[in-house]
Amino acid sequence: MAMESKQEFDLRKYVPKEEQRRTFAKVFDKGTIEAVHSLSTKGHFQVLEHVVSTGKEAHVFRAVDSAGNNKAVKIYKTSTSDFNNMYKYLHGDIRFKNVGRSKRDIVFAWTKKEYRNLTLMNKVGISCPMPIAFQKNVLVMEFIGGKDAAPKLRDTAPSDLEKAYETVVEMLARLLFKAELVYADFSEYNILNNEGNLVLIDAGQAVLTTHPEAENFFERDLRNVARYFSKQGMEKTAEQLREDIKAKKGKI
Ligand SMILES: Nc1ncnc2c1ncn2[C@@H]1O[C@H](COP(=O)(O)OP(=O)(O)OP(=O)(O)O)[C@@H](O)[C@H]1O
Ligand SMILES: [Mg+2]
Repeated sequence: MAMESKQEFDLRKYVPKEEQRRTFAKVFDKGTIEAVHSLSTKGHFQVLEHVVSTGKEAHVFRAVDSAGNNKAVKIYKTSTSDFNNMYKYLHGDIRFKNVGRSKRDIVFAWTKKEYRNLTLMNKVGISCPMPIAFQKNVLVMEFIGGKDAAPKLRDTAPSDLEKAYETVVEMLARLLFKAELVYADFSEYNILNNEGNLVLIDAGQAVLTTHPEAENFFERDLRNVARYFSKQGMEKTAEQLREDIKAKKGKI
């Protein structure tokens, strides 16, 4: 009983809007609320102001800190994700090879992996959200957009297609040659079009190039990108894209 009222109190504090709170309460457990509380106490945000996205594996909120700055808070679900699928991207990656098989182990490792991948991507000059902090299944990062999140490339095509292709080739080359990562879910759904600047998001699945499935994941990324640009009228093949990426080696 006491626990319940504490939860209710905390939720009201961090998710003041009732409609948003209902969405939050449906899928997040006590541990999640504690992680939100802890990250907030450290000053990363005051409230989760708005639900930006309710995906299969995570919900993303626009949070606001005490100075009025927006942050993106991505909260992975601890019960309904496809944990077997997530596990594949963890245990083949030497950074996470010892992760346990429980749902909690997997989802916490995944959150940490997204944080580390974003850190690495930032370091090698890839345009992506700056990671700020994480705890358990909650990740805080830079918010991309204005009051609203920037649209997905899927929904807002680039005005300069050639430039967008060049940007994507450079992102893939930096991932491969400088970060030694294969992104493993590269598509127009995971790139935001922030007023013409492309920003790569959603990096939890990205694996080191030594992962046994890395080549297959890379091939799939190439096919997705080639399909997208072909659909936009550029007629690219996965093989051409691979050559364009290779040509960047040593030049980025
Ligand atoms: N840093 C960010 N800044 C602004 N918006 C963001 C940020 N990260 C994620 N979003 C928003 O949340 C959506 C989902 O994010 P993301 O792709 O990381 O999660 P997901 O688990 O793949 O969700 P989905 O299942 O919906 O694809 C994005 O399309 C975007 O609208
Ligand atoms: Mg996504």
